[in-house]
Amino acid sequence: MALFRFFPLFLLCISSFLCFCFADDPFVFYDWEVSYITAAPLGVKQQVIAINSKFPGPIVNVTTNNNVVVNVLNSLDEDLLITWDGIQHRRNSWQDGVLGTNCPIPVDYNWTYQFQVKDQIGSFFYFPSLHFQRAAGGYGGIIINNRPIIPVPFGTPDGDFTILIGDWYTQNHTDLRKALDASKDLGMPDGVLINGKGPYRYNTTLVPDGIDFETFNVQPGKTYRIRVHNVGISTTLNFRIQNHNLLLVETEGSYTVQQNYTSLDIAVGQSYSFLVTMDQNASTDYYVVASARFVNESLWKRVTGVAILHYSNSKGKASGPLPDPPNDFYDKTFSMNQARSIRWNVSASGARPNPQGSFRYGSINVTDIYVLKNKPPVTIDGKRRTTLSGISYVNPSTPIRLADQYNVKGVYKLDFPNEPLTGAPRMSTSVINGTYRGFMEIILQNNHTTVQSYHMDGYAFFVVGMDFGEWTENSRGTYNKWDGIARSTIQVYPGAWTAILVSLDNVGVWNLRTENLDSWHLGQETYVRIVNPEANNKTELPIPDNALYCGELQSLQKPQQRHHKKNAASSITGGRWNLLYTLQMTLLSAFLIFH
Ligand SMILES: *[C@@H]1O[C@H](CO)[C@@H](O)[C@H](O)[C@H]1NC(C)=O
Ligand SMILES: *[C@@H]1O[C@H](CO)[C@@H](O)[C@H](O)[C@H]1NC(C)=O
Ligand SMILES: *[C@@H]1O[C@H](CO)[C@@H](O)[C@H](O)[C@H]1NC(C)=O
Ligand SMILES: *[C@@H]1O[C@H](CO)[C@@H](O)[C@H](O)[C@H]1NC(C)=O
Ligand SMILES: *[C@@H]1O[C@H](CO)[C@@H](O)[C@H](O)[C@H]1NC(C)=O
Ligand SMILES: *[C@@H]1O[C@H](CO)[C@@H](O)[C@H](O)[C@H]1NC(C)=O
Ligand SMILES: *[C@@H]1O[C@H](CO)[C@@H](O)[C@H](O)[C@H]1NC(C)=O
Ligand SMILES: *[C@@H]1O[C@H](CO)[C@@H](O)[C@H](O)[C@H]1NC(C)=O
Ligand SMILES: *[C@@H]1O[C@H](CO)[C@@H](O)[C@H](O)[C@H]1NC(C)=O
Ligand SMILES: *[C@@H]1O[C@H](CO)[C@@H](O)[C@H](O)[C@H]1NC(C)=O
Ligand SMILES: *[C@@H]1O[C@H](CO)[C@@H](O)[C@H](O)[C@H]1NC(C)=O
Ligand SMILES: *[C@@H]1O[C@H](CO)[C@@H](O)[C@H](O)[C@H]1NC(C)=O
Repeated sequence: MALFRFFPLFLLCISSFLCFCFADDPFVFYDWEVSYITAAPLGVKQQVIAINSKFPGPIVNVTTNNNVVVNVLNSLDEDLLITWDGIQHRRNSWQDGVLGTNCPIPVDYNWTYQFQVKDQIGSFFYFPSLHFQRAAGGYGGIIINNRPIIPVPFGTPDGDFTILIGDWYTQNHTDLRKALDASKDLGMPDGVLINGKGPYRYNTTLVPDGIDFETFNVQPGKTYRIRVHNVGISTTLNFRIQNHNLLLVETEGSYTVQQNYTSLDIAVGQSYSFLVTMDQNASTDYYVVASARFVNESLWKRVTGVAILHYSNSKGKASGPLPDPPNDFYDKTFSMNQARSIRWNVSASGARPNPQGSFRYGSINVTDIYVLKNKPPVTIDGKRRTTLSGISYVNPSTPIRLADQYNVKGVYKLDFPNEPLTGAPRMSTSVINGTYRGFMEIILQNNHTTVQSYHMDGYAFFVVGMDFGEWTENSRGTYNKWDGIARSTIQVYPGAWTAILVSLDNVGVWNLRTENLDSWHLGQETYVRIVNPEANNKTELPIPDNALYCGELQSLQKPQQRHHKKNAASSITGGRWNLLYTLQMTLLSAFLIFH
């Protein structure tokens, strides 16, 4: 469970390749064992996924340009991959942790992720990407700090809280997955967790006794940065703190125009930073609330997360009703206007989106246009499935990126349509053929009855427009060509569209998916494959030495000594990286011994 920070690389430059690749940037090491623990966040005992016995997992707290090394030991009873939501993995889709790029980590195997958090600053999160595991936890926050030379458009806060909110079922993830695979609906969640904990007992009828809730301890007059992530399954949550303004400053690595909100709608997979000033008189503690959005409140009352904001001089417990949510079940205009109001601070430096250093996305010519449309679930071959543009994605047994590397043919098709298909929906491993250095316009059209949020790995995209109805060419007239926010996850309201622009400068194979876990599980995703026609190690890093093999390449996999973390021995047989890792550990031991 060791975290070794800023161990200087110059000691470690044992090959010119690594020096070229990682420059002089510091390394940060994490050692994780992923396993089940028993918890009862809503008063019902269940198996949740913990990291080093913690649920939620530890915060990855690093500085921009750091090289992050995370050794993950899979102590679950099924395959595992961890994905890093919003981390761009520049030139390095090998580390993305989804089935299009990585073979799963088998039970009792460990696998070491190594990636640089290049030119990114802000708030992100990680989660297990396979088998519906996110419904059982395994997630945690990622903080990427600025280096001192990079200014931040606000004063240093007095403290920093990561707040993971999400809908939650008392059924475990294997039962939920089975229900989905048996063409069933998951129904209403049983609650909303805040940092893995159930609601404060604000109402003795609604909340049973004995539930552990989250408390945020603060000092009067101070200002805190709070980083809120919706890590749930499918419910958009309204986040608010009683009597306190939320000053929005950052979303998914971009500094926003700073504005106060009394509450903000956060779709599944989205991340926001707020500055909150403790400017109340602390007559009591205050409620921190995350409540289900766009549902019948009288039926969904129990699907509400409640935590406590406790001033050090508080005069008593929080009591009385929760602060009101927006009251517009039938009208999503308010929420959409709120989403549109989130704009980019174009004069703030630091967190830079693609294209690197360019703020003038509005004047770049679009090279590829895709209209991606999702619909309510359909039946294909007797199974309930979800689709994007009429195609329900099927994961191949050989990851796409690995198949390319080894020239395995027939694993996928580069035939994803520019316009939604009109015929019968079908199952296919259909992938978008991205043009390297192209500028792609993607219109996400939601024909379902619930909010869908979409995420693209490897990139931040510009959000240029959203509106109700069907997108048409004329809709371009409404695009924000100046200060649309650059981010990696955006919501699409039911019966509405959202348009994004993305500069395809990051070579690799990148997942484009709905973050709604149930829709994702049933096929609502694809990949964008971006290849530099002049392949070289400058635009894409070579395959890592520790790559796992599966599917048609299974025979390349060397058996791994199945170890349990506590007595794992370093191996020097695995090539350059393992050698480096071992050397680091040796040097580090020496370093620790002699200090
Ligand atoms: C989930 O619960 C079922 C019983 O409902 C049990 O058979 C299964 O082992 C549980 N899975 C996990 C991962 O705890
Ligand atoms: C993150 O690490 C920095 C030091 O690099 C430290 O100042 C800060 O308190 C840490 N933040 C959290 C939330 O742990
Ligand atoms: C497993 O962990 C050991 C150190 O505990 C490391 O040497 C080895 O490279 C890891 N295996 C992989 C495939 O990452
Ligand atoms: C934008 O960033 C600049 C530069 O850091 C800062 O001075 C300004 O206050 C910010 N503007 C808004 C509206 O957030
Ligand atoms: C608690 O919730 C119940 C059910 O919604 C409601 O009838 C009751 O008025 C609430 N009690 C308080 C004190 O708000
Ligand atoms: C936000 O609200 C706080 C009070 O909570 C106020 O002091 C501040 O000036 C407001 N900022 C903006 C940009 O409106
Ligand atoms: C301040 O506290 C008193 C009770 O001590 C309360 O009556 C009053 O409403 C509070 N004022 C504010 C602005 O919260
Ligand atoms: C919410 O559900 C209740 C109970 O079923 C029902 O009486 C009410 O009409 C519903 N409200 C709305 C806005 O649909
Ligand atoms: C965009 O395309 C127009 C013509 O279609 C051309 O005149 C212009 O130079 C192009 N702009 C850029 C930045 O390539
Ligand atoms: C993919 O796009 C490239 C141009 O970016 C083109 O040369 C190639 O033929 C396309 N491949 C397929 C299978 O359409
Ligand atoms: C879905 O598409 C159909 C056909 O275009 C349209 O009639 C319907 O209103 C759409 N529903 C939503 C929620 O977008
Ligand atoms: C990239 O690097 C790998 C490993 O260092 C090497 O085997 C390969 O030949 C290089 N490829 C190119 C195109 O330079």
